[in-house]
Amino acid sequence: MNTAHEHTAVHTRSTDGVLVIEIRNPPVNAASAAVRQGLMAALQTLEADPQLQAAVLIGAGSTFVAGSDLREFGQPPQPPLLPAVIAAIEQCRKPVVAALHGAALGGGLELALGCDARIAQAGTLLGLPEVTLGIIPGAGGTQRLPRRTGLLQAIPLVCRGERFPAAQALKLRLVDAVVEKEADLCAQAVAHALSLQGRKQRIRDEAVPAEDAALIAAAEDAALRAGKHQPAVVAALSALHDSARLPFDEAQARERAAFETLRLSPQALALRHLFFAEREATRPPAQWAQSGQVTPHPLHTLAVIGAGTMGTGIAIAALGAGLNVVLLEHNAAALDAGRQRIASHYQGRVEAGKLSAAQAAAAQQRLTGTCDWPDIAQADVVIEAVFEDLAVKQEVFAHIDRHARPGAVLATNTSYLDVDAIARTTARPQDVLGLHFFSPAQVMKLLEVVQGADSATDVLATGLQLGRRLGKLPVLCRNAFGFIGNRIYNAYRRQCEFMLEDGAWPEDVDRALQDFGMAMGPFAVADLSGLDIAWRMRKAQAATRDPRERYVDILDRLCEQGRLGRKSGAGYYTYADGRQNPASDDTVRALIADASARRGITRQALPPETIQRRALLAMANEAALLLAQGVALRAGDIDVVLAHGYGFPRWEGGPVFWARQQDPATLRHELDALAHICGHGFVAGDLSILLQP
Ligand code: NAI
Repeated sequence: MNTAHEHTAVHTRSTDGVLVIEIRNPPVNAASAAVRQGLMAALQTLEADPQLQAAVLIGAGSTFVAGSDLREFGQPPQPPLLPAVIAAIEQCRKPVVAALHGAALGGGLELALGCDARIAQAGTLLGLPEVTLGIIPGAGGTQRLPRRTGLLQAIPLVCRGERFPAAQALKLRLVDAVVEKEADLCAQAVAHALSLQGRKQRIRDEAVPAEDAALIAAAEDAALRAGKHQPAVVAALSALHDSARLPFDEAQARERAAFETLRLSPQALALRHLFFAEREATRPPAQWAQSGQVTPHPLHTLAVIGAGTMGTGIAIAALGAGLNVVLLEHNAAALDAGRQRIASHYQGRVEAGKLSAAQAAAAQQRLTGTCDWPDIAQADVVIEAVFEDLAVKQEVFAHIDRHARPGAVLATNTSYLDVDAIARTTARPQDVLGLHFFSPAQVMKLLEVVQGADSATDVLATGLQLGRRLGKLPVLCRNAFGFIGNRIYNAYRRQCEFMLEDGAWPEDVDRALQDFGMAMGPFAVADLSGLDIAWRMRKAQAATRDPRERYVDILDRLCEQGRLGRKSGAGYYTYADGRQNPASDDTVRALIADASARRGITRQALPPETIQRRALLAMANEAALLLAQGVALRAGDIDVVLAHGYGFPRWEGGPVFWARQQDPATLRHELDALAHICGHGFVAGDLSILLQP
């Protein structure tokens, strides 16, 4: 006889003497307080009912438990806590089998590892991503996982927080069986539960397998190097280490204590802020809901104009998402070069074992190269990625306007140019928007979706949809010089140039900002991407530049000497040994000292903290201006852009989050001082716009 019992977030029914415990907490069955209470009640039912031999734990909807409820992390914990629920599963005299589909991540995987067996549907993603949120697993994940996988496998899994599929979990002995079809999952788990015949199989009772100590030490070193700046990685290693040397309960208590300390740490707050900001960024703005139903256009075929660095990257991203791509160049040689770049990308993927030869061939079959404009007529979206020159882009858009089908979405990948000036060369500016990809476009997740003055809402919605389809993180912003990212980065770089004139050397600035956590210092970045791009832009802006503005000409003078960055063997640094390692250079120092002298500045060394605060404040100030001007729709969007596109350390949360952590009065005081340093033309934003969460 089947009986059913309802609890708010957990539903139970019994079948063949097995209690099926179903977690119902949409959308991702997060292990919230209600779920934990429901699980406790279900376990009591299991224990008390003599008709029941075992239980199966399963998630309703599209997933098992995809994680803990992050909103609870900033608040006092509500009992029962997850370790108590898992302890109740282990103490229950009857076996419990977890049936996994969708995702079993974080607390979800810990719950599953507390069960007596695990059956997973093929393709289920498992993982302990806690370190990416600045914490460590707090419900025994660092103790149970290595008992199955060994420390050598557990160290990278826990310290990088990567997800892995069920097939790999099977090899790692984290799941006992994989079933192909979702329809079979529950039945197989029930059968498995019955096959246990009442036997408990607690992972906690197993020993961590013995492995070579030298190899473990090497894996720990590698994890520490990759997790530099991240206390969670150090804590995770320590907890894993405990698993092999301490009794289970003692080690688990230490894991929990570390989790509790990290939970409220500044890094965890910053990473949670970004986690929520990333989710918020991809949601359409609230105003759209008021303007009725907004439907994105269907997407089958993309036309990409220009087969250079960005055009080929965008084409690869689109082919990877299953779209057809028409790639247009203005001559056969350039088209050939672009096709070659795409072919060698696929060859590399096949050689690396990431794609089969058949998959690579199938993707490339969806690519059509052409030099004939009428071939773009089939495209649903056209993305222009030609040279960064307004006249060239306007001419290209005139062609696009003539040949794209009515209703097609027309996008420019410009980095800085005015989207409206491009849109208005067409007879359909409502269909035009900016889609600012980042390089390499097939890798970088960030995509700025730029709203021109005339862009229609459904066109923007299509841009967001395309971004999601390509696996990107699309952030909507308004058309203005540099959009969000380049505009803030410009303010930052400019401030760093001021610091050169004021007394710092390029290596002082780069080191201080790298110590803060930036992936690279600004001058190393400039050398890497080439100084000539900025030089060209500066020359184009020279005629309209206000002569009273503080303008640092060091970059121009480096370029005049042929120092264009790494590619020319010298820029802010000299790259003597195969262009890899930057060395400081007396010629550059002389040139910088001369710039200081011409401005009448007596050079004074700047302490690292001053360099960091000036650079960050310059970013925060620009962020305040962007928000006030409506270029960025939400403060969190700015942090998402900087963390994803510009190497801002995730664990610092982004420039807005950084500003919110500072004392407001100090920040205002420092901004006044900065305005004085920057001189004529510096616009101080109203920082209070950033400080309200
Ligand atoms: P690129 O110089 O590598 O490629 C431009 C391509 O456009 C060349 O292959 C050229 O032959 C082609 N082209 C020029 N005129 C054309 C025309 N009339 N018809 C068809 N094709 C034409 O340049 P890159 O780096 O790919 O940049 C393209 C655009 O993407 C620029 O607007 C740039 O600002 C933007 N962008 C570049 C990023 C980067 O990191 N390189 C990042 C984000 C945006």
